[in-house]
Amino acid sequence: LSAQNTLELKPDTLTVKINKEIYGHFSEHLGTCIYEGIYVGEDSDIPNINGYRKDVVEAFKELKVPVLRWPGGCFADTYHWKDGIGPKEDRPSIVNVFWGGVTEDNSFGTHEFLNFCELVGTEPYLSINVGSGTVQEAVEWVEYITSSNKSPMTDLRKKNGRKNPWNVKYWGIGNENWGCGGDMAPDYYANIYRNYSSYIRSNNYHKVICGPSGGDTKWTESILKGLEGKTHLAQGVSLHYYTLPTGDWGSKGSSTEFKEDMWFATLRNTMYVEDFIKKHLAIMDKYDPEGKMKLIVDEWGTWYDKLPGTKEGFLQQQNTVRDALVAGINLNIFNNHADRISMANIAQIVNVLQSVILTKGHEMVKTPTYHIFKMYNVHQDANLIPIDLETENYEYKGESIPALTASASEKDGIVSITITNANPNKEIPIDCQLRNDFKSVSGKIVAGKEITDFNDFGKEEKVYISDFTVGKTKNGELKIEVPAHSAILVQLQ
Ligand code: AHR
Repeated sequence: LSAQNTLELKPDTLTVKINKEIYGHFSEHLGTCIYEGIYVGEDSDIPNINGYRKDVVEAFKELKVPVLRWPGGCFADTYHWKDGIGPKEDRPSIVNVFWGGVTEDNSFGTHEFLNFCELVGTEPYLSINVGSGTVQEAVEWVEYITSSNKSPMTDLRKKNGRKNPWNVKYWGIGNENWGCGGDMAPDYYANIYRNYSSYIRSNNYHKVICGPSGGDTKWTESILKGLEGKTHLAQGVSLHYYTLPTGDWGSKGSSTEFKEDMWFATLRNTMYVEDFIKKHLAIMDKYDPEGKMKLIVDEWGTWYDKLPGTKEGFLQQQNTVRDALVAGINLNIFNNHADRISMANIAQIVNVLQSVILTKGHEMVKTPTYHIFKMYNVHQDANLIPIDLETENYEYKGESIPALTASASEKDGIVSITITNANPNKEIPIDCQLRNDFKSVSGKIVAGKEITDFNDFGKEEKVYISDFTVGKTKNGELKIEVPAHSAILVQLQ
């Protein structure tokens, strides 16, 4: 056995399902995420289905996007849904005050989003305007979308061309209400949340209270105290955590030009999420000892300086092997906490922050993060296999982080193990203790030659999924060499 690196599968009790929603995404009216990224309009010369980009629809279907959050983000708490229904020529234009101050014509609204979800086969997760909206407006939105009763709202929906209600289960009540969603104090917000939630009535809804940013345990403690005795009003608590290489919002670091110092810092900073998860869960346990409330990491991913030459407030960045590692590490962490994390949504699905897809005119690229999500899809709705991982450290200038992360699951008799190697300089051997031998062993890998490799428009992909050769299992053991700066999948049957 290699002394240092071992992974032991503990398949005795498979009681936790990895909710497919952990592989969720987020789409906001921000930059070119919605307009240009998802929606180009029916008159566009970019091939489209009812205005939705064909290439993007196909890519999302291939990716099996399980859930999509909309319309924000900060935008959500400025959004008045009635502006985005009815004949397009009658819809008012609005200014997107948070993101670039651009004017939007509202041609993408409630119908367009929910029909898009149906087309792609994904669950919608809607963010309700609490910051500048009203309870009445929220209740009417829910009624408009989900009711089959006869009422003014359902009549309006039918008039606008949709007879049957849509099925929307996930409702976020406010977004970042400690900041862009109204700069509220936690006890004030908790009261407002109770008010909204009590009028959004259905036992089938999964209502999400705006939780903390990063390690802000004070916010979590205060909002949950505010919900005391009323925890049934929230099924989820959201957590937002963005990974900045420098940790400094003024100068975050470049998405493409970096050396090992920023590589290390990014991966170190992203790993902090596990500590935050544990801290918030400990507080949630106090107020909800039965663990009914779930943690929903509904914004996560890397946030770099904007690409040179791109618009202020559009949050456009590239996506390299480093982002692939960030995605692989986070998804392993979320999988391992699948008993309490029921959903996660990477920010954002197209053209904004750590996207899986980038578009430019007619062109589209699948980013390294796309390939990680695709390779990791085997975990969607699979049974989590608890693991014991012993890993050497990756050391850089006196600091160290675990070199390897891993998670494992079982579905339809196939065991899937995903492993990341954060060390950019070293292939790492690991001994997997599997308890029994398997007839077939196969592997896949997402990697690039250089840590700064990315997939660019009009060029051959540099970072993608390829086959990875793994040996046979012997006496219930499997030896794997995990290449430097890569993520791998090993499947056993
Ligand atoms: O994803 C970009 C922004 O980050 C979102 O609008 C907001 O919720 C967060 O601050």
